[in-house]
Amino acid sequence: MKINIAIDGPSAAGKSTVSDQLAQLLGYVHLDTGAMYRLVAYLALENQLSLDDEKAIVELLKKADVKFEDNGDIYLNGNLVNEVIRTNEISMAASTVSKNPLVREALVALQKKIAANKGYILDGRDIGTVVLKDAEVKIFLTASAQDRARRRMLQNKAKGIKDDYEKLLNEIIARDKQDMDRAISPLKKADDAILVDSSNLSQEEVVNKIYQIVKEKL
Ligand code: DC
Repeated sequence: MKINIAIDGPSAAGKSTVSDQLAQLLGYVHLDTGAMYRLVAYLALENQLSLDDEKAIVELLKKADVKFEDNGDIYLNGNLVNEVIRTNEISMAASTVSKNPLVREALVALQKKIAANKGYILDGRDIGTVVLKDAEVKIFLTASAQDRARRRMLQNKAKGIKDDYEKLLNEIIARDKQDMDRAISPLKKADDAILVDSSNLSQEEVVNKIYQIVKEKL
């Protein structure tokens, strides 16, 4: 029997990497819902739309040819956009665009549809509270803002991107605030989610911990 797993938490807590590894261990599919908001922000900026113009953004999204492949590849109108949606500019723009109710409505409907057959790990901000309220396993993965900034710096360094630690830390704190303070589906731990603090854990330890929680459920 396959189940669904919800992994929520603030930015740069390691949700995406941990979800990828869990998906491999379990033979499940990982859907990175943050990438969906990033794609919408990218689409809006590419078309010179204001990030608040939700009607125009959703219209554009409906007309766009968007593909989220099971292996994590994302295509927009035939172009692979995995990398271009990962810039610091798009991170903040995704957080801003995600405040719009119509945008959330469209993406949440898509996420629910994709996960309907079970065997999915969805990572995001509102998975346990809104998208998959009935997920069999819910994790809230967090870490201190400082740890997350350090981790993001290392990830970016590996990609050849140079960052300023203070700038990155401030961006993370600003994004946390915007994601937690928004009116609709703010970032928060679901009552039935298990809190995992990755501050003093290696990535492997986090994966093992969640894997054990899942195994107990299965
Ligand atoms: O997980 P991420 O950093 O790639 O997400 C980018 C932004 O998208 C995040 O700051 C808030 C928004 N988001 C959201 O509102 N709901 C989700 N389920 C996932 C992401």
